[in-house]
Amino acid sequence: VEATPEWAAEIKRLARERNATILAHNYQLPEIQDVADHVGDSLALSRIAAAAPEDTIVFCGVHFMAETAKILSPEKTVLIPDERAGCSLADSISAAELSAWKAEHPGAVVVSYVNTTAAVKALTDICCTSSNAVDVVASIDPDREVLFLPDQFLGAHVKRVTGRENLHIWAGECHVHAGINGDELAEQARTHPDAELFVHPECGCATSALYLAGEGSFPADRVHILSTGGMIDAAKAAKSNQVLVATEVGMLHQLRKAAPGIDFQAVNDRASCKYMKMITPAALLRCLVENRDEVHVDLETAAAARGSVERMIAIGN
Ligand code: 13P
Ligand code: SF4
Repeated sequence: VEATPEWAAEIKRLARERNATILAHNYQLPEIQDVADHVGDSLALSRIAAAAPEDTIVFCGVHFMAETAKILSPEKTVLIPDERAGCSLADSISAAELSAWKAEHPGAVVVSYVNTTAAVKALTDICCTSSNAVDVVASIDPDREVLFLPDQFLGAHVKRVTGRENLHIWAGECHVHAGINGDELAEQARTHPDAELFVHPECGCATSALYLAGEGSFPADRVHILSTGGMIDAAKAAKSNQVLVATEVGMLHQLRKAAPGIDFQAVNDRASCKYMKMITPAALLRCLVENRDEVHVDLETAAAARGSVERMIAIGN
């Protein structure tokens, strides 16, 4: 199946026919982003899914994102074009591991990044995304211990910004972002002295981006630690005509659309998430024709997880 104009027209017709809205994450293939009704980061898509008037949500993203939509709207049909689209970060902590960690820190507030399974969210007090993690942690009584999971680099970023000592961080990581390392970034910074730098906080290099800024080898006002949605806003406000982007390469498509006059370059052009790329034009067509794969979250788990997701949606942006 090719992403032709006929394919796009058929996708839109099928979606309308069954009263479905198509959501696509910023890391999806360009052709999937272009046919979607809404493109955004995890938090924006959660909000859109929760408020959508349609009966069916077709989630072009990875499984935990579709699960989050189902948790928020159990009465809606949530479809993902390929249920094998997982996430190495969400897989880095299980519900059993979280239960054991909680037992070691009785009374701690559990903050989970939205990249977690429904079973982990059911054991969580507040979920967060990369765009509101700092606000979520800042909203918690400073005297309470916080367990932050699963991403160690986002955790380190939140700890640095909030200055919070009683924040314990799980040692998980996303294989795509962990692979964008400090050496590569330093080299790019050195060879592009006038470029601005957008860094996703899941990157293994987020720490070195700040270090470089502090060292003066890369001026602090040129380094921005941002969620994928935050990168779009920053692109519109960028002062330089070149931006180095440290995140999954799917991001470049929306950035180039948002600011066509800017030269966006990937810090690591091999940083591609194989799970995000499982949502192909063929998979999306099959999804709408055959109503699959449907996402199910058992009612008890969804009920236990809902509060933590609703708190995430209510805090920050
Ligand atoms: P955002 O919340 O910034 O969209 O990131 C989601 C994600 O999966 C990052 O790898
Ligand atoms: Fe998960 Fe990483 Fe892929 Fe994002 S880029 S969906 S965190 S594996």
